[in-house]
Amino acid sequence: MRPGLLVLVLVLVPASGSQVQEGHPRESHTLNWDKFSGFWYILATATDAQGFLPARDKRKLGASVVRVHRVGQLRVLFAFSRSKGCQSQEVTLRKDGKKPVFRNTCAYSAGGGWKGMKGVKGFHVLSTDYSYGLVYLRLGRAARNYKNLLLFDRQNVSSFQSLKEFMDTCDILELSKTAVMLPKDASCAHTILP
Ligand SMILES: *[C@@H]1O[C@H](CO)[C@@H](O)[C@H](O)[C@H]1NC(C)=O
Repeated sequence: MRPGLLVLVLVLVPASGSQVQEGHPRESHTLNWDKFSGFWYILATATDAQGFLPARDKRKLGASVVRVHRVGQLRVLFAFSRSKGCQSQEVTLRKDGKKPVFRNTCAYSAGGGWKGMKGVKGFHVLSTDYSYGLVYLRLGRAARNYKNLLLFDRQNVSSFQSLKEFMDTCDILELSKTAVMLPKDASCAHTILP
């Protein structure tokens, strides 16, 4: 698992600047999107997008509902506690070949777009056992790019192992300083329970 994760993260690096030869990690062919579908709590986040997180006292667990819409299309609903309260947003993404990646082919620009979130450009599952998931979002609009690493979990608490993997990946993505565990308040997360 761990070497696979490292390879995947290297593959991600081009998105943030440098050029690295793209490989085809094993996970890319084996991720089962039907199994990955459904409701997830978002327990932790790390991002270089300014203004994404609200003030400390307004932070709550986030949530996501992932659905395979039709072949090669993913609908992802997010709920996050923001400075103006609990906000949700849905994006439709298209599969990128055989990679465990879905991309937004139409630039997201609705009036209610999230400050700091801009558009969701890409949704990458770096690692999962279907009870937790390490999800890397590529955010931004036009040439602007932001990184957001999310720790997904089916439960409202994380395992030591998944948290360690989250922190290790933060290191690799140079997001450690922005890593935040979200307070265990599910009032926003539960607004998108299917
Ligand atoms: C976490 O989930 C458990 C089981 O669903 C529930 O009993 C508990 O109240 C939840 N904790 C919080 C803080 O939401």
